[in-house]
Amino acid sequence: MSTTLDRIRGFLAEHDPPTPCLVIDVDTVLERYHALAATFDGCRIQYAVKANPEPAVLRALVAAGASFDVASPAEIELCLAAGAAPETLSYGNTVKKRADIAFAHRAGVREYVIEAESDLVNVAEEAQGAQVSVRLLVEAPASVTPFGRKFGCAADQAVPLLLRAAELGLDPAGVSFHVGSQQLDTGAWDLAIASAAKVFTATAEHGVPLRRLNVGGGIGVGYTGPVPAPADYAAAIGAALREHLPGQAPEVVLEPGRAIVAEAGLVRCEVVLVSRKSADDAERWVYLDIGRYNGLAETENEAIAYRLEVVTDHSAADGPVIIAGPTCDGDDVLYQRTPYRLPLSLRPGDRIDILSAGAYTASYSSVAFNGIPPLRTYCIHSIHEGRPRSAE
Ligand SMILES: Cc1ncc(COP(=O)(O)O)c(C=O)c1O
Repeated sequence: MSTTLDRIRGFLAEHDPPTPCLVIDVDTVLERYHALAATFDGCRIQYAVKANPEPAVLRALVAAGASFDVASPAEIELCLAAGAAPETLSYGNTVKKRADIAFAHRAGVREYVIEAESDLVNVAEEAQGAQVSVRLLVEAPASVTPFGRKFGCAADQAVPLLLRAAELGLDPAGVSFHVGSQQLDTGAWDLAIASAAKVFTATAEHGVPLRRLNVGGGIGVGYTGPVPAPADYAAAIGAALREHLPGQAPEVVLEPGRAIVAEAGLVRCEVVLVSRKSADDAERWVYLDIGRYNGLAETENEAIAYRLEVVTDHSAADGPVIIAGPTCDGDDVLYQRTPYRLPLSLRPGDRIDILSAGAYTASYSSVAFNGIPPLRTYCIHSIHEGRPRSAE
């Protein structure tokens, strides 16, 4: 049976598209979705569209029965165009304009996540009767790409917001949180679920029982280091639910982005320049045709260390490198602290594959910094629904 890499490299060998480009193997997306759905049995799997909003990815997930976390009117339109029913969309962004809520409501979106009174009032006025969840600010251990304190409110704010939602004629559905993306500490969910349980108890005491708990994304992907298996995350979350919400069995929603698309994607790029800044420098600078602004935003602070594989044949001898992107911005340096080694004979024109690059790459790509176009994506399918392998 062919692997994800075989299929993607087969496509690249056949079509040799200009670099940089991202190739997504849609079969792998589906395989990851089904695996998560089986591991988190009984949970609703709500794909975080921001991770990779490619229409072919969304269409496949719609057909597989996924729900969707959307963050803007544009993401709503993409999901609907892919065939998603509006009831399967949840507006998860707590930072939204009143006009965006009105748009979502007209489109049929029925669930909104909020963290502040003004947004709650806007939802009440623009999306009468909608389901509302409050996002909790959780003091989780730092993830690889943490949110800091940007999103959510403390439990003592969440309770009055949910009670107010009921007064405003909304449907106070539950609580959501996100313990940070690429969260490698499964214990993070225990802290968050303990805090969510306090909100469940307090609102119930005021006659407003909650029924839904959205445990966010955060499932890790093995880029260059080991990560817990999905089953480890599921076990930790299950144990925390049993401990903190005994006998309550809320509807549990899992909102993965990275874990569904990262390993389905590979970026092929090209070496543009190799420069040794002075004769006695140990490291060479290797400049690629992809950088911080055309797809590799998650290299900020060197958070995500992608696995690189040189495609062009080279002798085994390698040496340390600093890796940078192609633009005129001094911050467009990908790795200078994380140790990377590349062949000593590497030269301009050589191709490099960036593995597990399907999440948060194309969707973060700028429109034209230095005139560089957004990262081009090709989606490939093997045989499903009787269709032959094709590229879009
Ligand atoms: C509200 C929300 N849900 C889900 C996700 C997906 O997280 P991950 O890609 O870590 O699974 C994100 C990511 O930023 C998010 O903001």
